[in-house]
Amino acid sequence: MPDIDALTDLARRMPKAEIHLHLEGTLEPEMLLELSRRNGVPVRFASAEEVREAYRFTGLQSFLDLYYEGTAVLQTAADFHDLTAAYLHRAAQDGVRHVEPFFDPQAHTQRGVTFDDVVGGIVSALREGERDLGISWRLIMCFLRDLSTTDAIQTLGDALPYRDVITAVGLDSAEIGNPPEKFEGVFDLARSEGFQTVSHAGEEGDAENVRQTLDVLHVSRIDHGIAAMTDPELVARLVRDRIPLTVCPLSNVRLGGVASVAEHPLLEMLDAGIVASINSDDPAYFGGYIADNFRAAIEELGLTRGHLQTLARNSFEASFLPAGEIDARMAEVDAFFALE
Ligand code: ADE
Ligand code: ZN
Repeated sequence: MPDIDALTDLARRMPKAEIHLHLEGTLEPEMLLELSRRNGVPVRFASAEEVREAYRFTGLQSFLDLYYEGTAVLQTAADFHDLTAAYLHRAAQDGVRHVEPFFDPQAHTQRGVTFDDVVGGIVSALREGERDLGISWRLIMCFLRDLSTTDAIQTLGDALPYRDVITAVGLDSAEIGNPPEKFEGVFDLARSEGFQTVSHAGEEGDAENVRQTLDVLHVSRIDHGIAAMTDPELVARLVRDRIPLTVCPLSNVRLGGVASVAEHPLLEMLDAGIVASINSDDPAYFGGYIADNFRAAIEELGLTRGHLQTLARNSFEASFLPAGEIDARMAEVDAFFALE
């Protein structure tokens, strides 16, 4: 019976994709303070410890308040480059071979940062990561669902010249009170312009929110989706249509969606045949990167070697890589496990 350390090591080394990760959520306290100094943007924290002391979240909104506060230090293309590069180096240590990070342009353009500086900085680091670390990528632009649809449509317009580097649009921020219907027109427009679509749903919202997200926004995958597990009909639909759920165990515990990783429905998802993957969401804020999320699930849910292989395969199946590439990546996962 392999022990927890051996399985965690296997999870770290196996080829996998990370497809639910907010770049702004990788802003570590040390970098926050460094960029605050570099850009002359004052923050209310005197030390990294003080920033970490503020990581006491009572729910999604209390986290989002701190997350948006932190973004104030991100000012230049170089800042977005450095943020992305730091994440990629950290992800490479955890065996990540493909990333599909989110970014929230409205959190920056609202403050006067240009769309071009945000995307330009991120993409320059993603290209270096592909060249130097062998990490392939697709970039996902999220709309903040608590802002207006007019604002989202304008942001979609900003993204049109960048269609060669932005593959998909997504929806994040406050789920409650901002139903998928609000973004139906924006998502229709995005699809007609050639973007793929994803959305957060069932993180704080209920199963009906997940169903409406599928019915109204026609997304190809759901971010979190934990509430879907309360609805057998919806579970059957996710399995039948192979709609992936991008799961983030430590995030769900930190924001109170589940009481502990031991109570997370990840195993029920896998047992039902849902294409679930493990991801880190906002690793600087939630106590760990992707391998830490795997470790927690191995320790508390008793994930087996077979589960790890399925999760790695699922992470590629759920990605926006072309079909032939997905087959090749899944074959790579199987070859890795055959030799272990
Ligand atoms: N933005 C960053 N992280 C988020 C999360 N976990 N849920 C919704 N919006 C987010
Ligand atoms: Zn998220």
